[in-house]
Amino acid sequence: MTAPTYSPGLEGVIAGETAIGCVDQGQLLYRGYPIQELAEKTTFEEVAHLLIYGELPKPAELSQFRRTLFSFRQLAPQVLQALRLIPTDPPMMDVLRTCVSMSGHFDPVKDDSPDDLRRRAVWLLAGISTIVAARYRFLQHKEPVEPKEGLSHAAQLLYQCHGTEPDQQSAKLIDLTLILYAEHEFNASTFANRICASTLSDMVSCVVCGIGTLKGPLHGGANEEAMKMLKQFKTADDARKWIRNALTKGEKVMGFGHRVYKHGDHRARILEDEMRKLAKQKHQEHWIEIYDAIKIPMEQEKKIFPNVDYPCGLVYYLLDLPIDIYTPLFVAARVTGWCAHYIEQVTNNRIYRPLSVYTGPPRRPVPPINQR
Ligand code: COA
Repeated sequence: MTAPTYSPGLEGVIAGETAIGCVDQGQLLYRGYPIQELAEKTTFEEVAHLLIYGELPKPAELSQFRRTLFSFRQLAPQVLQALRLIPTDPPMMDVLRTCVSMSGHFDPVKDDSPDDLRRRAVWLLAGISTIVAARYRFLQHKEPVEPKEGLSHAAQLLYQCHGTEPDQQSAKLIDLTLILYAEHEFNASTFANRICASTLSDMVSCVVCGIGTLKGPLHGGANEEAMKMLKQFKTADDARKWIRNALTKGEKVMGFGHRVYKHGDHRARILEDEMRKLAKQKHQEHWIEIYDAIKIPMEQEKKIFPNVDYPCGLVYYLLDLPIDIYTPLFVAARVTGWCAHYIEQVTNNRIYRPLSVYTGPPRRPVPPINQR
């Protein structure tokens, strides 16, 4: 056996095998399909099916998938009651973590056959979007909205938030962000989910691990932080002054940089084009100027490029969504990747148990209590 090597943050370490997603020459592939093509030619439901069932659905499979998804959209009354009881100040990510955990007590799928695991994944996908929408309603002192048949997953989410059917463009843009957010091989939250799965824990516990990990601002929480940063600026000049100062001080800029993409995140480019169109259409071009005022010096001077969270924050903002919902929307998509990875991990498992470099005191005797 070769001597163990230490790589802080596991950079460059191959921690397992996966057939779900990969980054191939800078391009993200879901089960072999380039993300750009999936974004152009499919809907989020098709991508969810691809991740959970392994292949893009045929028409009849897609109809069945949609029916199953719809059948799982209602929350257990006890979970709705818990949502009512949670105060208004905790972040929506914390509420989501609690309510997904509580939903686990009312899991309608009772067994763990491969088909049951896939059904449980679809149940989680449906329930998470209903929890997010119900929390959104309660924060506005409104009652949750019953799901409506015939809507896409993205349109349903917006419908259950606002109580009215969204326009096609908004639903399509949310759908696009869900596709881009659905999967990303061994990112931190998926890895946390797989570590939990590797102990042969249950799928709900693993998704809860994923939510807690995604919340952090260095991971999914960056879409909220990036928008909070942009919102400080009234003009592009304000943004330019701020970034100059941040660069001088060597500060982190949220929504930039990536462990895997060192020359730019393909998903960010796809979404950035849509953000520019949306801002123009809404006569809010000043946001494009502010966006570029941060992006240009980051790229030119630091060679650090936007990741998907930078344009995504602004797309959600331009769609009039409150900042607190941005990372929960990320969860509403990534749950498909997490569940696919859960199934893959438990199907071909070895527990994760790495080593560490010990930096504490050397071996020493335990002193009696009166001599400490
Ligand atoms: N702003 C400013 N500098 C950044 C940066 C950012 N967003 N991201 C990376 N850097 C700098 C680091 O400070 C480091 O500089 P140094 O070598 O002078 O110390 C260098 O770029 C390499 O970055 P590193 O921290 O090694 O990258 P990582 O792979 O460990 O971390 C992220 C990756 C994503 C955690 C990191 O880029 C980051 O914190 N980004 C902001 C949060 C974010 O947007 N997260 C969402 C990711 S999809």
